[in-house]
Amino acid sequence: MRILLSPDATGAGVAAAAVIASSLGDRPAPVLGVATGSSPQPLYRALADRVQAGLDLARATAFALDEYVGLPVDHPESYHSVIAREVIGPLGLDPSRVHVPEGVSADPVAAAARYEALIAAAGGVDLQILGIGANGHIGFNEPGSVPDSRTRVVDLAPRTVADNSRFFDGDAGLVPTRALTQGIGTILESREIVLIAWGESKADAVARAVEGPQTAELPASFLQRHDRVTLVLDAAAASRLSSASLPVDAGR
Ligand code: GLP
Repeated sequence: MRILLSPDATGAGVAAAAVIASSLGDRPAPVLGVATGSSPQPLYRALADRVQAGLDLARATAFALDEYVGLPVDHPESYHSVIAREVIGPLGLDPSRVHVPEGVSADPVAAAARYEALIAAAGGVDLQILGIGANGHIGFNEPGSVPDSRTRVVDLAPRTVADNSRFFDGDAGLVPTRALTQGIGTILESREIVLIAWGESKADAVARAVEGPQTAELPASFLQRHDRVTLVLDAAAASRLSSASLPVDAGR
């Protein structure tokens, strides 16, 4: 895994946007995988600056990683709403090319299969943006998720419900307990992955993802299987990595 270090979250966002812009090059219609949560917000702000400066994503297709099950699409914290607010608008995406799992479907199992088919029909994901949960989840692949898992309905870990209660007025009772998420296997099929993490609360998960054994107990550790992963970290998120994992010029 390639690791890029920035002093703070804003810098990590700028660095991650630079990686993405360079990877997309002048590809006219890339397929992006987009994450929600607080982690990618600095990245989306930096990418939005690039769009203002001329980066054209109007023909990009995008697939969100996940969505809560049962949360109305128009709830402000549904990932449909978050993606519209933080991704589609700022990045100038065409809403008709942006897909989010149908968490309100009466048949979420069928919705999961449809989502996999949509990704395949788009030719797969060129570049997947990821955050990481404090418990090492990616998307909503909680501990216990196996590396060949596909898009499916999952139960959220108590830690994730507690962590995400900040988006629901601090009330864990308002956080949905199930989600539809792309699987680890789905994520690993994307051609390139950029994971952004910042803050001390992610330091342990980052260190275990990079240096620990590949284990379902820490789903992000399966990213070690992918040969094009860039982790963009701030100093706090990188603070528990051994020096052997850090870029040679880190700290100079
Ligand atoms: C959320 C999302 C993930 C995200 C992770 C970390 O609940 N489902 O896609 O990467 O958990 O969240 P945050 O970035 O807010 O810390």
